[in-house]
Amino acid sequence: MVKTKIAVMVSGGGTNLQALLDAQKSGVLTAGEIVLVIASNDKAYALTRAEQAGVPAVVCSRKALGSQEAFEAAISQALEEHGVELIVLAGFMSILSGDFTGRWPRRIINVHPSLIPSFCGKGFYGLKVHEAALEHGVKITGATVHFVNEVTDGGEILLQKAVEVEPGDTPEVLQRRVMEQAEWKLLPQATQRIAEEIGKGKENA
Ligand code: GAR
Repeated sequence: MVKTKIAVMVSGGGTNLQALLDAQKSGVLTAGEIVLVIASNDKAYALTRAEQAGVPAVVCSRKALGSQEAFEAAISQALEEHGVELIVLAGFMSILSGDFTGRWPRRIINVHPSLIPSFCGKGFYGLKVHEAALEHGVKITGATVHFVNEVTDGGEILLQKAVEVEPGDTPEVLQRRVMEQAEWKLLPQATQRIAEEIGKGKENA
């Protein structure tokens, strides 16, 4: 089967990108190939990970490009140039408009560090999610991989995994546990599943 071409979009450390790159090597992700990394800022360590893996990367900064339209036009151009068929948001912190997501129905997936519908939506990203979970005093949290649509964190849920909160957890400690026990496993699994579906769709077309 021809591999589905994947773009991974990142903003920070890129540990989820690393999990996807490792999954390609270890044979967990076989139905797709990461052909492009798009970073929302030029300081993202994820760019170094892409370079080390020999994957082409581009920076598309909303701030530098001046408007949402110019930002999304730059992203769309890079996606087209690389023949991308599936977009994986892996810690991508810029907002994509409904206009953009509407052009990629069931072709964008995102990893979110909580059990949606808890601690999600506007303002809940990165460490803030874990701060909110600890503040609320939940005993179980986790991660979710979902399709992306025009509603922030509102698309169909693909996979979820629960993770225990432990006494004395700081947001950083909890974040790391959620990544290790849930995100780094779920995201490659979901990516494989959707890449496979896209591949089968092409074969049957
Ligand atoms: C991850 O925990 C990811 O789930 C979260 O940001 C972190 C990025 O880490 N994403 C969101 O909060 C999106 N709403 P990484 O750069 O090391 O993959």
